[in-house]
Amino acid sequence: MTAQPSPLIAARTERTQWFLSGRFGMFIHWGLYAIPARGEWVRSEERISNEEYQKYFDEFNPTNYDAKIWARIAKNAGMKYTVLTAKHHDGFCLFDSQRTDYKATNTKAGRDLVREYVEAFRAEGLKVGLYYSLLDWHHPHYPAYGDRDHPMRDNEAYKGQPRDFSKYLDYLHGQVRELLTNYGKIDIMWFDFSYGELKGEAWRATELVQMARALQPHLLIDNRLGGSGESNRSFATKDPPVYSGDFACPEQIIPPTGFVDEDGQPVPWEANMTLNNHWGYCSSDRDYKSAKQVVRALVECVSKNGNMLLNVGPNARGEIPAACEQILAQVGHWLHQNSASVYGCGGSELPKPEWGRYTQRGQRLYAHIYDRGIGPINLRGLNGKIKQARLLADGSEITLSRPWMTAEYKQDAFIKFPSAELPDDLDTVVELELI
Ligand code: GLC
Repeated sequence: MTAQPSPLIAARTERTQWFLSGRFGMFIHWGLYAIPARGEWVRSEERISNEEYQKYFDEFNPTNYDAKIWARIAKNAGMKYTVLTAKHHDGFCLFDSQRTDYKATNTKAGRDLVREYVEAFRAEGLKVGLYYSLLDWHHPHYPAYGDRDHPMRDNEAYKGQPRDFSKYLDYLHGQVRELLTNYGKIDIMWFDFSYGELKGEAWRATELVQMARALQPHLLIDNRLGGSGESNRSFATKDPPVYSGDFACPEQIIPPTGFVDEDGQPVPWEANMTLNNHWGYCSSDRDYKSAKQVVRALVECVSKNGNMLLNVGPNARGEIPAACEQILAQVGHWLHQNSASVYGCGGSELPKPEWGRYTQRGQRLYAHIYDRGIGPINLRGLNGKIKQARLLADGSEITLSRPWMTAEYKQDAFIKFPSAELPDDLDTVVELELI
């Protein structure tokens, strides 16, 4: 007999239902770093001081930012939720915080960019999330000299500077309170990230999570108050700390076997992925994944009971790059025709088929066929278990048949696919209604 889940896990299961049903979200990395356009780590990588970085603040003027356009792009792509960097590691705030002057309202933008974002995405019916960097390379009390990543980590002038981390923590907690108080219902709070000694209670994480949930009880929280993208395992224990959050967030990888707890039960997870090789806008990086890769990655996640949060990095003008928009439109076209095989679906108990992947929702089993092969397509172990088969994209009949050469494979069902080539090169989905 399986023991009852702890109250914390039972609440997590309840809270994450919409999230796991939605499966596909948009990550948005946007900030001053869109101007240097070499990714959001530019300050750290090039050891840029606050003073040198100030020119981007003075210049920031995203005249083409229209959150409604972003929201439409996400909606058309078939995304169900979204997460925007309210503050990234550089400390710049896209929102009108009362706790700092280092914010969009004080730039030429002159507006609260987070407010426009939440309103626009909500209006399109998407769930709205905010990313908040635990690191802050601008704050005077965040560790600088000797820190692992701070831009001034090896600048002698910063050595021995008085820095009071508790003041930074008050700031962090205060800003999270603002974000969860001033923008209506927030669905996800995505904290990023812990490292070295700076993890868990070093952030006063239990207090932070309790405050967040007191303000917004339904809120989903990622698991990086306790770790980073490469340390998700503790999340899958049966008695995780309060701050371990609601979902694991592997970064730039789809875990080989998904995530399960100690009893083998699936736990919520979301792979976050870039569309090219950067999170923040990078003008020279045109190494985009194709729509086919994106679709198959999404299906891969769903087949392992996970989600995909796919990133775009808008440019300094406030536009999602046209190349991203085109890929997302193609993905959206596929999803529109094949939505039943993604939303509300999870993995199947069946072993991974040779020709592609399975996803499943109740009695509907979805065969995602990538490699048609030749001859009848084999459905292992499904003889006598399928009521009917349809091409999901248009509802047309797919014949189940057992020609003479299949005689030896008594346990298996076979599809007689109507053409030698697959109709959809991205992913051809056959819906199997199980008996
Ligand atoms: C990271 C990076 C970062 C990015 C994020 C997304 O840990 O520091 O720039 O925002 O992961 O998962």
